[in-house]
Amino acid sequence: MQLKFDWLIVLENLRRGIMVTDVNLEPPRGPRIIYVNRAFLKMTGYSRDELIGKTPRILQGKHTDRSVLQRLKSALQARQVFHGQTWNYRKNGEPFMMNWTCYPIYGERGKPIYFVSEHEDVTELEEYRMKERLLVNPFDPEANQFFAVLREHRESKARRHHP
Ligand SMILES: Cc1cc2nc3c(=O)[nH]c(=O)nc-3n(C[C@H](O)[C@H](O)[C@H](O)COP(=O)(O)O)c2cc1C
Repeated sequence: MQLKFDWLIVLENLRRGIMVTDVNLEPPRGPRIIYVNRAFLKMTGYSRDELIGKTPRILQGKHTDRSVLQRLKSALQARQVFHGQTWNYRKNGEPFMMNWTCYPIYGERGKPIYFVSEHEDVTELEEYRMKERLLVNPFDPEANQFFAVLREHRESKARRHHP
């Protein structure tokens, strides 16, 4: 028996955010976003129309780690799998810790035809981890920096609402 398979319904309902781009990594236009699933929209606060045709750089900001991005570029150019984590920003400006994996998808001729990525918001998980680290060492620089980024955003939001 042949089972009907609706791949788009499956993609749209995956728990992780999914993004598909073209294989041009060169700024300013590349890589261009071709598809994002619903989980990705929910995580970032953007609508599909605001992302299709743009580059994923739209998610980057002040605390985004350039060395992680450089590593992504080199990995994809070498046709390797990239795993990484850095601060990204939702449409409303809120920072969140993005954890993602990115890799080429090959066409029938053996050439990459898309880059695909799987994304997860790990801010809450990192908050637990960093709190534990502060219990061990209240001066842990990485943990303090993590909470400073979240605090900076909350304080600037409060100033906007109560000038
Ligand atoms: C499929 C794919 C997904 C990407 N997702 C993100 C992302 O979620 N966050 C991010 O900061 N950069 C993401 N990037 C990286 C940027 O698009 C860009 O490649 C990176 O900033 C390095 O290039 P640049 O040095 O020219 O900016 C993604 C790239 C690709 C190809």
